[in-house]
Amino acid sequence: MIKKIARAHTNIALIKYWGKADAKQRLPLMSSLSMTLDAFYTDTYLEAATENTFYLNGIKQANRASERVFALLALLNERYGKSTHYQVRSYNTVPTAAGLASSSSAFAALVGAFDHYYQLELSPRTLSRLARMGSGSATRSIFGGFAIWQKGHDDASSYAYPLDEQPELDLHLLAIELNTAPKAISSTAGMALAQSSPLFAGWLTRNELELTEMTQAIASKDFTQLGQLAELNANEMHAMNLTAQPGFTYFEPATITLMQLVRQWRIEGIEVYYTLDAGPNIKLLCQLKNVKIITERLASVFDNVKIINTSFGPGLSYRNVSCR
Ligand code: PMV
Repeated sequence: MIKKIARAHTNIALIKYWGKADAKQRLPLMSSLSMTLDAFYTDTYLEAATENTFYLNGIKQANRASERVFALLALLNERYGKSTHYQVRSYNTVPTAAGLASSSSAFAALVGAFDHYYQLELSPRTLSRLARMGSGSATRSIFGGFAIWQKGHDDASSYAYPLDEQPELDLHLLAIELNTAPKAISSTAGMALAQSSPLFAGWLTRNELELTEMTQAIASKDFTQLGQLAELNANEMHAMNLTAQPGFTYFEPATITLMQLVRQWRIEGIEVYYTLDAGPNIKLLCQLKNVKIITERLASVFDNVKIINTSFGPGLSYRNVSCR
């Protein structure tokens, strides 16, 4: 039997979303800009069933992940006048909940699978808005290359759009898996706490400015400006966490070691920048010419570190798979 699965790739924000204006509708306090990655994606297939079940990589889930999946399906049912239960099967090439953006691809693929199941042929913009209700970062995974999630002011105006789906830019993102255990503080909890930082209001202004500058860096294919801005923006996001009340951090000792190494390597002439999200795993931004030397250096410092070399990935797509 041939089944059609929805595939969505994860994205990493270069200008971060880190704060909600409306938690229920998942409206953000700021717009954000991301790069969709080729190496990490989620494949999802759904069909009607007598009860809701969610399998991730072949294993039935009975945890928070499945609750979020069922909550989004309930919302989709309500919006599109359905009352079905579903069996959902997802396959992830990315570790779940370790700050490697697994929820971005997961919820983008889920709305894609729902759209396909009912042949709704929803527009990318509508799919992006629906994905937002699962996870904010999923808005951007509907698109490939670089995407911007405009914050908007209500459900209808808060969605992502493509900035450049096939960028001609020499940009590699090395995902460094220092620790793939699920994070202790979810992104929802982390961003709620971050808003108590006395620096938060100032950061909102900075983010807006940095998004404009990042758009310019991309348009002019300026890797240096892109890298500097991405690193600054990530440091600012994590400064909100450190200065929240109470303060917290996703950094682990290895995270800080790597941040310092990156600065040292730059002094030595290896142009590389870092970004990191709600977890200890650093992503390095570099150009093709430096992938080899950075990989060698990482291997000489960290034992058994997993490094995944990624570049631009596509938006939501569908493919046929044969099943028994
Ligand atoms: O939408 P969530 O819950 O996956 O939160 C994403 C938060 C960050 O990854 C830290 C930043 C971002 O814009 O993706």
